[in-house]
This record gives sequence, C-alpha cells and structure tokens, in this order.
Amino acid sequence: MSTGIRPFRPEDEQALRRVMNASLEFDALPGFTAWDLELETVSMLGTPEGVAVAVDDGVICGYTGPRHEDLTVHPDYRRRGHGRRLFAACLELAAKAGQDEVRLFVPSSGPAQKFARAMGMTYRSSMWRLSLPAGAPVPAPVLPAGVVGRTFGDWLPLAQYVDLLNTAFVDHPGPVSWTLGQIEYGHSRPDFDPTSILLVSPVSCPEEPIAFVRTALGPPEGDDPAPVGEVRIVGVMPDWRGRGLGRELLRWGVADLRNRGAGPIQLSVEAENELALGLYRRTGFEPVVEWPHWTHAVPKRVPGRQ
Ligand SMILES: CC(C)(COP(=O)(O)OP(=O)(O)OC[C@H]1O[C@@H](n2cnc3c(N)ncnc32)[C@H](O)[C@@H]1OP(=O)(O)O)[C@@H](O)C(=O)NCCC(=O)NCCS
Repeated sequence: MSTGIRPFRPEDEQALRRVMNASLEFDALPGFTAWDLELETVSMLGTPEGVAVAVDDGVICGYTGPRHEDLTVHPDYRRRGHGRRLFAACLELAAKAGQDEVRLFVPSSGPAQKFARAMGMTYRSSMWRLSLPAGAPVPAPVLPAGVVGRTFGDWLPLAQYVDLLNTAFVDHPGPVSWTLGQIEYGHSRPDFDPTSILLVSPVSCPEEPIAFVRTALGPPEGDDPAPVGEVRIVGVMPDWRGRGLGRELLRWGVADLRNRGAGPIQLSVEAENELALGLYRRTGFEPVVEWPHWTHAVPKRVPGRQ
C-alpha cells in the first residue's frame, strides 16, 4: 500500500519509534518522556493486532491503538487526512476488541483538541501522573496477618496471572485490560525482572494470589542523576479490598524501587478512581501532570475508511 491505513506489524518497530520520537521532540507534550514511549512501544509490540499505522507514499507516518489511548501523526505529515483515517481505524479496532467507547489522551496544548472536536470526541476525565519526591518518608511495608507475599516465578501460570490482573481491574473507571499475548511478550524481553512483581496470596492457598504490585526502573530525567522509579500497577481482588493490602503493596513498591536506587517515584491514576488517588496522596505522592482523556462511542457498524 502506498497511502492509507494498514495493520501494524512487528517489523514496523523502527518506523513506529521514528514517529514517536519526532512527535516527542516537536510536540513536547507536558509529562511525556522517552521512557513512556518505550513502555508504549513494548505494549504495542505485545498487541500488534490492536494497532494500525498510517502510510504516506510508502512511509509510515502515524499510528493508533485504542488500548494505548494514543493517535499520533508525524509532524511532517499533518493536515493531510492521516489523523482522520487513523481515527476511523481506531474505532474499527475498538469495535473488534468489543469496546463500547474509544478513549484517547488529548493534550491541551497543540492541535489535539481541535482535532478531537473535529472527530466528534468530548472530554471525559483526566488521568494524573503523581510523583513521590526522593526523600519523602514512606513506612516499610507490613503485610496483614493471613497473607503471604512472593515474587513472580514459574510457580504461577501466566494465564492465571493475566486473569488476576483483569479481574482486579474489572470495575476500574475507564476500561483497562491485558491480553495473554501482551504479558507473554513483555515477560519474554531481556529486561523483564520477575522480582519487580510481588504477589500476595492467602496463607491457606499460597498459589492463588489475590493482590499484586509491579514496579519498573527507568532512566534518570532532567538534572537528577538517579533513575526514575514507577509503580506500574497495584491491584487487589474485590473481595480482599479494605484490609490495607493496597497500602502495603504500594509501600512495598516504593521500598523495592528505592532499594534499586530510584530517586523520584511516579505513578499514574485515573482522577475518578478516588480511593486509589486518596491512598497515593496520603503516601506522599503529589500530582505533577494532568492528562485529559476524550472519548467517542464506538458505532455498532463503523463506516468504511475514507
Ligand atoms: C492531532 C493530530 C493527530 C492530527 O493529525 P492530522 O493528520 O494533522 O489530522 P487530519 O489532517 O486528519 O485533520 C483532521 C481534522 O482535524 C482538525 N485539525 C487537525 N489539526 C488541526 C490544526 N492544526 N488546526 C486546526 N484544526 C486541526 C481539522 O478539523 C482537520 O480537518 P480539515 O483538515 O479537513 O480541516 C496530530 O496533530 C498529532 O499527531 N498531534 C500530536 C499527538 C496528539 O496530540 N495526539 C492526540 C490525538 S487525539
């Protein structure tokens, strides 16, 4: 195909990175770092079936993936209709994935809001990036009686782990889910560290975890030479909430990252997720960036691409 939309293929990785890096430099969107894009790339490579690319005269110039809430066109290829075609593809991918609505991150700066309005999207909610300063005191984790913690390993079948993640996030405001392929891909990468995942199980069923936390250590940012840590996900199964597990898992994540040399520690949370937001704020995390989410309903039958 010389111009239009086609499915993403793993061999498009370098082209995808080129578009991401050009946008990172040109748009300078607040709070977006090269590390965010690295994590997004890994996530896209793990779910190639959920990503589409725009091609202009044989060159990949844009991409979208509803699961990744991203639609980006290379700065040199804008105002040529690629964004509009990618948006139609995004709706189609979301329909295939069974989603009722598409959510995209729409920064307040640059042309994104005008584009989103032109696509018929509306503002829905915001996601916060929070940051815990390097020196902020956080108590050491203490798991409540009756549960036991263990890092990830062969003892836990991957499908059971993916079920655990999806069940813990089933009632999350704004749909969040993982596929087996995506997790399999992430865990097959050379930088995967099983000790960055702590699973908590009842003492009576030590192989049936009911809560988890995952951390990641990224490169330093700005003038601070210490690597930035991130608490990637914290989740507790619905029946096990309200017993302090989330708080202790968060403290474990902070302690784990600091043991590995992290300076500031960041995490992201949906503003509507008030319980989680309250827990993070009480632990010392402070909001640093707001990411507005805009949404569009997924039509039952998506009109053909233009
Ligand atoms: C937002 C973005 C995806 C638009 O991509 P694009 O290929 O330029 O979009 P299109 O050419 O398909 O434009 C579709 C419509 O959006 C609106 N639009 C797009 N850019 C605009 C701008 N700079 N000023 C005013 N309106 C604009 C117009 O209504 C346009 O229709 P028109 O060209 O018929 O007037 C692109 O600027 C981008 O990648 N920005 C950085 C990443 C980002 O913010 N992504 C969030 C997307 S929700």
